[in-house]
Amino acid sequence: MSRICKHVEALAGYVPGEQPHFPGMVKLNTNENPYPPSPKVGEALAAFDWKSLRLYPDPVFMRVREIIARNVGCRPSQVFVGNGSDEILALFTRAFVEVGGTVGYFDPTYSLYSVLAAIRDARGKSLPLNDDFTCPTPPKDFSDVFVWTNPNAPTSLLAAPEQIADFAKGYAGVVLVDEAYADFGPANCMALATAPDNENLLVMRTLSKSFSLAGLRFGYCVGPEPLIEALYKIKDSYNMDALAQVIGAAALEDLPHMRANVAKVQATRTRLTAALEGRGWRVLPSSTNFLFVRPPEPAKAADLFAALRDRHIFLRYFPGPRTGEWIRITVGSDAEVDTLLAALDTLA
Ligand SMILES: Cc1ncc(COP(=O)(O)O)c(C=O)c1O
Repeated sequence: MSRICKHVEALAGYVPGEQPHFPGMVKLNTNENPYPPSPKVGEALAAFDWKSLRLYPDPVFMRVREIIARNVGCRPSQVFVGNGSDEILALFTRAFVEVGGTVGYFDPTYSLYSVLAAIRDARGKSLPLNDDFTCPTPPKDFSDVFVWTNPNAPTSLLAAPEQIADFAKGYAGVVLVDEAYADFGPANCMALATAPDNENLLVMRTLSKSFSLAGLRFGYCVGPEPLIEALYKIKDSYNMDALAQVIGAAALEDLPHMRANVAKVQATRTRLTAALEGRGWRVLPSSTNFLFVRPPEPAKAADLFAALRDRHIFLRYFPGPRTGEWIRITVGSDAEVDTLLAALDTLA
């Protein structure tokens, strides 16, 4: 007899993107920001009193909640903070769907959702994207909760906030809009999350991408108080350590730095898009810090991905019927993009 819960034994764990370490490598596989975080982060770290680590951190991280509330225009009681947005996603599946219930999401999308549903002993239920990778509006009875990734990954496409608002209106469950990449695009759903009549929509953000802090583990979500309170009830007592609170606060207080980095990434995104299109590639119009691209025939995405990997240029490839002809490229620095383009020219 197994000592392991049946549903845990049956599940395939999530496999995060590869984190290789080669000198001189070009790492464009996990949508990290090529530029450093705000210098205010460095100052906060330098000023941090290491002896204070003997004390537990603020369990409800009031300072960062106040800063986020000011940034997005809501009350601190409408803000929850997690150890990366991945932790918030896990708490979401525990708070708002029963064991045996259904967690809805698109296909393809961020592949962690289905794993979290399985961990919860709930059922992941995917709704195929349209043929052009845009999002259909899910039927209202599609699932008990729905995670709408916007912009979506790996496709990079943005759905109009109005489409998400239409879906959430009258939907019986909770809709979580995963806005990991929203700072790189032209629109977002934060106004829906903070609207006074909102009862069932949460917007989630991360400091991993636009704020250049993937190594810190800091995500947050905003929404109606009853939903936010439910997340506080079930979280670990001290889910945000003292350093994360101090560094997160410094980064969130320096929005101009984040916006300047985003503008640089957007400029490189435009340049990389044009360079690939000029070489005959198909590039979806990206609202993110990555491109979803299809090489011209007769090149095969899987082969190109492997050949670049051999040269220590790391991209992301998702095998499968919908994604197998495509490659995801994180928009890196101009120099990284130049290295990639030069390698593609030698492979062509
Ligand atoms: C759509 C999406 N949501 C959430 C995350 C996780 O972000 P975090 O680093 O905050 O856990 C990612 C990471 O790549 C992502 O692509």
